[in-house]
Amino acid sequence: MGGVAFRWGVVGRAAALDLQTRARIARAASRVTVVAAGGVLVGLLGVAYRQAAELRFPGDPIADAFSILLGTSWATSWWWAIAGGVLLAVGAAVAARADRAGWALAALGLLPLVVFPGLTGHANGAEARFVALGLDAVHVVAAGTWIGTLGLVVLIGRPWLDRLVPAFSPIAIGSVVALVVTGAAAGWREIGSISGYLETGYGRTLLLKVAIFGVVALLGAVNWRRLTPRLGSPDGDRAMGRSAGLEFLLGQAVLLVTAILVRLSP
Ligand code: HEM
Repeated sequence: MGGVAFRWGVVGRAAALDLQTRARIARAASRVTVVAAGGVLVGLLGVAYRQAAELRFPGDPIADAFSILLGTSWATSWWWAIAGGVLLAVGAAVAARADRAGWALAALGLLPLVVFPGLTGHANGAEARFVALGLDAVHVVAAGTWIGTLGLVVLIGRPWLDRLVPAFSPIAIGSVVALVVTGAAAGWREIGSISGYLETGYGRTLLLKVAIFGVVALLGAVNWRRLTPRLGSPDGDRAMGRSAGLEFLLGQAVLLVTAILVRLSP
């Protein structure tokens, strides 16, 4: 998600970049996206292993649990996600040579990947199922856009921060608004009462996630106001690079807490 959003939203909109630099950054983004797509595929294998391990009767071979799992509707979503991951990797690799066609292919690969968490998580069991799945997909897209784009700005965009950060800011603000709205709706859907936020493990884990996210959002807002005017000077760029790196790390902490949250019973 980050690679596609970075290519079109940040590099594409950073008007002050010449064509050669733009192509160079886009190629670097395509390499990072290939590696990230590999990570997605490994993650999907891990998810299947965990699911099979949960299905397995004590003492039975794991292969038996796999063959049961592969006959379920869960496996249909999983195969689609695997196909999406492969398409994402191929598209990102093609993007290094054929920019537009490659990124379009990569974007197509993202479609099954953004609905997979909802289809295999709590949203799939919600009362208004399609609304919940739709909001979940928007949440995942916003999360991937924000954290993935920020990651690429930090990882490969450092020499051009003065031009990339102004193009990144509206994407970050839009993603954060979408995350808060869809996240608040999902939280209320799963918990449904004020007391549930404090009295259940799920509620407390969600509050921890919101607290860490609040720190990141605050950091982002302060940086935007304080450091953006200093961009372009060596000191200003260094300070922005450091603080964006910290934001990215804290974003990983939000993802870690989310990984625990989605495994808890609401
Ligand atoms: C106010 C901010 C946020 C709130 C209230 C919120 C709330 C939630 C809730 C309630 C869920 C559903 C968990 C479940 O299925 O049981 C969720 C899932 C998720 N959140 Fe957030 N979230 C917020 C911000 C973020 C941020 C900043 C990120 C990324 C860094 C993020 C990434 C995710 C991901 C990847 C999922 C998994 C979706 C799934 O498994 O279906 N969220 N969030």
